[in-house]
Amino acid sequence: MLVTSRSYAEYEAMFDLSVLPESILDCCAGGASFTAEAAARGVDAIAADPVYELAPAELVDTVRKSLPAASGIVDEHAGSFVWHWYGSPERRDELRIDAADRFLQDVATAPHRYIPAELPDLPFGDRRFELVLCSHLLFTWADKFDRDWHLAALRELVRVANSEVRIFPLVLQGTGAPVNFLPELLDALDNITWEIRKVPYEFQAGANEMLVLTRS
Ligand SMILES: C[S@@+](CC[C@H](N)C(=O)[O-])C[C@H]1O[C@@H](n2cnc3c(N)ncnc32)[C@H](O)[C@@H]1O
Repeated sequence: MLVTSRSYAEYEAMFDLSVLPESILDCCAGGASFTAEAAARGVDAIAADPVYELAPAELVDTVRKSLPAASGIVDEHAGSFVWHWYGSPERRDELRIDAADRFLQDVATAPHRYIPAELPDLPFGDRRFELVLCSHLLFTWADKFDRDWHLAALRELVRVANSEVRIFPLVLQGTGAPVNFLPELLDALDNITWEIRKVPYEFQAGANEMLVLTRS
């Protein structure tokens, strides 16, 4: 799986963020710069990802190699992507390269923000974060993780959230195909309220919705 580096601007649009709450978890944060940039805005921001177990040089290498590899997926499935949000492939590359630089700089200077952790078991207390964000793991990789894994992961994300969990996107990587087990998964969410909300971001064609979870 790629360790991609989405930027703060992409997170802001994917999760329709306006005012930031006082604490945010980004799980699976990979090489994204959201945590660094939210922390710079005064937020208690934490990133979780199993890749933070890697030695520093290996993490740098993994993040840098993911930049062209992610563009390769887009090229392979060119018909499944739209460019109105980015404007051009060059602008997308620019955002991702800047985000990777920002992430790598922050990991080196503020390693306490980057916690090795693997869903569906997170090393955080109940309600630790006001808001929990999850970009491009759940649903994106539904060919690798089954319905039961998703259910356990959703419950765990809700456990560590005090107000909301937001997940984007709701389709498979590459093709942007719908996830067959999504309706059944939502039905199985007892004691959790869900809502599918439109967001001002689209890259995979038609993927402009996030899943919002709250405790019932
Ligand atoms: C496609 S990247 C997304 C990174 C970042 N959120 C972004 O939008 O650019 C997927 C990330 O999920 C992480 N990952 C894989 N399995 C995981 C798990 N079980 N729990 C948490 N993160 C996981 C990978 O290490 C990788 O960094």
